[in-house]
Amino acid sequence: MNIAIDGPAGAGKSTIAKLVAKELGNIYVDTGAMYRAMALYMIKNGISPDDVASIEEACEHADISIAYQDGAQHVMLNGEDVTGELRTEAVGNMASSTSVNARVRTKLVSLQQKLAERTGVVMDGRDIGTVVLPNAEVKVYLTASVETRAKRRYKELIEKGLTADFDAIAADIRDRDYRDMNRKNSPLRQADDAVLVDSSDMTIDEVVSAILDLTKKA
Ligand code: DC
Repeated sequence: MNIAIDGPAGAGKSTIAKLVAKELGNIYVDTGAMYRAMALYMIKNGISPDDVASIEEACEHADISIAYQDGAQHVMLNGEDVTGELRTEAVGNMASSTSVNARVRTKLVSLQQKLAERTGVVMDGRDIGTVVLPNAEVKVYLTASVETRAKRRYKELIEKGLTADFDAIAADIRDRDYRDMNRKNSPLRQADDAVLVDSSDMTIDEVVSAILDLTKKA
């Protein structure tokens, strides 16, 4: 059984998807990490987010693959494990900007579809239910208000001992939502057959059991 979880940045997709995958014995596939690895390649090579020719050329030279260690996904960029470098705001914003490119998307969508051919997956991203796995048995559109998502991110940064500016985080989330939802290629949208789950007033356990209930009915 394949489960597609789409939604905006900070909705809790990866936390939820990992737990659902563990319950079901499926592999968790974080597609955002693949777009982030492409973005990291571009940052490391000094490519600007507006330089379409260089972004498309990067698709020829950046080899992305996925490995699993103790059930955790590791992203390899030209043979090097870059998993630890992917979760910064700079890489996330670059990924949001460069993922509008059709060449980037074709390359990564094909990798994602190959992973799901081999085994049952819980895959999260922006276009999983609409483009990558249109036949997924369960599709969820997981969202939360901008306020809730900004609060969660703020708390996460403070708990790590970092400084955080709530208004700047909220503005960043709004910008990212706008880019992800309004791009021409595979914009973020709820698939017609996806179930909407708004996690603003739900605990992690409640969201996980709501999704597990959907898998029982599928
Ligand atoms: O989920 P994330 O924050 O790790 O994703 C980073 C960016 O990658 C996101 O802003 C848009 C892009 N992305 C995408 O276009 N399609 C996906 N399936 C996953 C991520």
